[in-house]
Amino acid sequence: MKNNAPIGVYDSGFGGLSVWREIRRRLPDESLLYLGDGKNCPYGGRSKEEITTFAMAAVERLVKEGVKMVVVGCNTATAAAVSALREHWSNIPIVGLEPAVKPACLTTKTGHIAVLATEHSLAGDMFLSTVARYNKDVDVHKVVGRGFVEIVEADMEHSDMAAEAVRGVVEPLFEFNVDKIVLGCTHYPFLKPQIERVVAGRDIDIIDSGEAVARRVEWLLDRYDMRAEQGAVATYSFITFADEEYRQRLERKAMQI
Ligand code: DGL
Repeated sequence: MKNNAPIGVYDSGFGGLSVWREIRRRLPDESLLYLGDGKNCPYGGRSKEEITTFAMAAVERLVKEGVKMVVVGCNTATAAAVSALREHWSNIPIVGLEPAVKPACLTTKTGHIAVLATEHSLAGDMFLSTVARYNKDVDVHKVVGRGFVEIVEADMEHSDMAAEAVRGVVEPLFEFNVDKIVLGCTHYPFLKPQIERVVAGRDIDIIDSGEAVARRVEWLLDRYDMRAEQGAVATYSFITFADEEYRQRLERKAMQI
């Protein structure tokens, strides 16, 4: 049955907008309701329990608003809480996000890949078991993008400070001869132009999960027969646990990307 209810997309803050953008591109008939927590961001250095509490509150809010599906547009919240979320809301599809380790491991030529993500994501069971599955002939270098989330939250991704932070994290990877850099945090695609500048002239691909997640959302809409009507007028709404100013910044950023 056609279903014009919105798809909920959730992140600790602005990062999930990089996923939101891919879903909007791929599924222009679908209305989207974005929840950027904002109040508790960043999640990256927090405990599983804390993040689970935030994620439960976020999904509860989205469900109350009537979403037909939830996309956890946050690797960290997925690592901490996706099982708890799926257990609690077993009647609605919940899509999680994982760093794109598999495609990077399957296509690397040098046998070295780097995964940039938050502390919590890199220590998560799901991530470690994916790495264990694919790292037989591949070295997976795990790196925290220190300061990256804060830079994106401050709308500073084009600043000298951002260039400096990115260089500090990416340049040391050259000595390992990595040819894939996986962006395992949804805030990081906003720093992709800075990363590209640092790796310019080297044979290094930068991979994120946005497009793959949008494809997964499309697949699930068909699987559960819940697409919006063709030609439906999609609406894009934004909510937050922070203040109205933050909400407006979310909306503005979304409209610029
Ligand atoms: N955007 C989030 C992720 O994908 C987390 C950022 C944070 O709050 O630390 O991991």
